Amino acid sequence: MSAPSAPSNPHPRVALVTGAAQGIGEAIAQRLIADGDRVVLLDIAPTVKDTAARIGAADAVRVDVTDIPELQSSIHDVATQFGRLDILVNCAGTCGRESFEDLSPATWQRDIDTNLTAMAFACQAAVFPHMKEQGSGRLINIASVSGKVGGIGPVDPAGRGGRSGAAYASAKAGAINLTRWIARQVGAWGITANAVAPGPISSPMAAGAEYGVSQSPIPRMGEPAEVAAAVAYLAGPDSSYTTGTCLHVDGGYVLA
Ligand SMILES: NC(=O)c1ccc[n+]([C@@H]2O[C@H](COP(=O)([O-])OP(=O)(O)OC[C@H]3O[C@@H](n4cnc5c(N)ncnc54)[C@H](O)[C@@H]3O)[C@@H](O)[C@H]2O)c1
Repeated sequence: MSAPSAPSNPHPRVALVTGAAQGIGEAIAQRLIADGDRVVLLDIAPTVKDTAARIGAADAVRVDVTDIPELQSSIHDVATQFGRLDILVNCAGTCGRESFEDLSPATWQRDIDTNLTAMAFACQAAVFPHMKEQGSGRLINIASVSGKVGGIGPVDPAGRGGRSGAAYASAKAGAINLTRWIARQVGAWGITANAVAPGPISSPMAAGAEYGVSQSPIPRMGEPAEVAAAVAYLAGPDSSYTTGTCLHVDGGYVLA
C-alpha cells in the first residue's frame, strides 16, 4: 500500500469500503470522499486501483473477501497504516439468478460467503481491536430488499430463474439479522451497526435483469448515489442514536 494521502479535512475519518471498484460501492466511496473522509477501497477486481486513482481514494487493496484471513489482515493493515478505522462499509456482493431447480451448491456457497460470511468477519476485524479501543465506529452493511421479501423481480411461473436467487436472498436476510446481532453487542462500546437495503439500482450487477419498476411507487431504477446518501447518513453525526436498523432505499419497491 502507498502512504496515506494528505487530509484536507482537519479531522478526517478513515473509511474502508468493500466492493468499491464499481457500482454502488464506488458511489459510496465517492460520497465519503466528498464528505471529507480518507477512504480505502477494497475489491477483488484489478480495476480497484484505477477506481481509487480516478475518484481520489486514499488507497486501494485487491482482496477476495471470501478469503477471511486476507480480508481481516487487510482491515488490520488499513487501521494500522492510517492510525484508526472509523467507518466500515461492507458492499461486496455477488448475485446468482439461477432457477431453484438449477441452483448449485457452488452458487449457494459463493453467494453466502461473499454477501454474509465476509460481512461477519470484516465487522469482527474492524471492531476487535480498532473500533472497540477507539470507543467509536460505524459498521454499515449493504443488504438488499431481496432479503426482506424472498428475492426481487417478477416470479416466473415456469420457474426459469432471472430474479435474485435463493442463495442471494437468504444471504441478504442473514445480513440484516447479523447487523441487528452485532448492534446489540457493540452499542455500549460507542459503535453503531446498521444495514441499508437497496431495491433495484442501476449498476453492473443489475444490468439485464428485469425488475418491473414501472409498478413501484417511484417508478424508476434507483441510482448508486441514492444508496450512497443513505450510507452517508448512517456514517455521520445525524445518526448517532440509530443502530440495528435496516434502511430501505428502494423507491417503495417492496410496497408495490
Ligand atoms: N444493484 C442492485 O440493484 C442492488 C440491489 C440490492 C443490493 N445490492 C447490493 O449492493 C452491493 C453492490 O452491488 P452493485 O450493484 O454495485 O454490484 P456490482 O456487481 O456492480 O459491484 C459489486 C462489487 O463487489 C466486488 N466483489 C464481488 N465479489 C467479491 C469478492 N469475493 N471479494 C471482493 N470484492 C468482490 C465486485 O468486484 C464489484 O466491484 C452488493 O452487496 C449488492 O448485493 C445491489
